Amino acid sequence: IKIMVYELRDDERNVFENLAQELHVEYTFSHKMLNMETIPLAQGCQGICILGISKISADILRQMKEMKISYLSTRSVGFNNIDMEAARKLNIRVSNADYGPDGVADYTLMLILMSLRKYKQAMFRGNVNDYSLKGLQGKEMKDMTVGIIGTGRIGARVIDFLSGFGCRVLAYDPYPQEKVKGKATYTDLETLYEESDIISLHVPLMEQTFRMINRTSLSKMKNGVIVVNCSRGELMNIPDVIEGIETEKIGALALDVFENEDGIYHFDRRTDIIINRDMAYIRQFPNVIMTQHMAFYTENAVKSMVSCGVKNLVSFIKESRADNEI
Ligand code: COI
Repeated sequence: IKIMVYELRDDERNVFENLAQELHVEYTFSHKMLNMETIPLAQGCQGICILGISKISADILRQMKEMKISYLSTRSVGFNNIDMEAARKLNIRVSNADYGPDGVADYTLMLILMSLRKYKQAMFRGNVNDYSLKGLQGKEMKDMTVGIIGTGRIGARVIDFLSGFGCRVLAYDPYPQEKVKGKATYTDLETLYEESDIISLHVPLMEQTFRMINRTSLSKMKNGVIVVNCSRGELMNIPDVIEGIETEKIGALALDVFENEDGIYHFDRRTDIIINRDMAYIRQFPNVIMTQHMAFYTENAVKSMVSCGVKNLVSFIKESRADNEI
């Protein structure tokens, strides 16, 4: 079985290679994204595996069809980057990954605590031997109401972890889960916005969630609210969020994702001219933490991501089915 792997990171190579013998797979690797320019690299392959950043348009899917490639796997949980409607029309079968939620849940807790204890500033000060406390007074978790939007696997895990802190936990999800009910109180979104000191987003990017954090939703939130996003940048209307910081509506913001991060995050762009003004402006606020879409990045997760990416393609090709077909 021949598989074309795009967006390869060096740390994934071993995991891919360890699976090759067991599954009788041969790879062609590329660090590049899948696009119209790079798709010829997949000539002769039966399946394509991407990491979840490449934007997969109808044009690319049509080209895949033309090249007689009918299977696409993404090593990510999120698949908002793939035009699924076009894939269905063209009968291109697509799968995603289902790595464990713990890495992202751990990271979310870290960002919540860093925001609450103003750790970005404390860390910066330490680097220049400034050990003053002024402006660094924090708050305690037990006094907080934390609102979790989206109680799928990651949101539910964040709620598990929060239960050790003694805080009040509110949750919103159109599909409430029985196992979450003992640990959090489901509310409507309005109540969650109105009553939460900390709000963390764990929803997929789709039409209903696109820019859900905007001027209107922010206006319902408490003054000084802490907002955390380890999901997708496009859940936020960034100009509105910037206004929220400037007016001090938002007390702290922690973002592991950012709109139009592709081509920036996960690359060393130190000597380049980066074209994303909002990203540069928002980063400079003392109460804004931004990281390079790395909440997912643990040993366990990477193993599962690669394994899902390959195994789903192999079962598509061999059995015309896959565990994680979308
Ligand atoms: C996901 O799995 O959805 C992620 O956000 C990981 C990223 C490498 C695309």
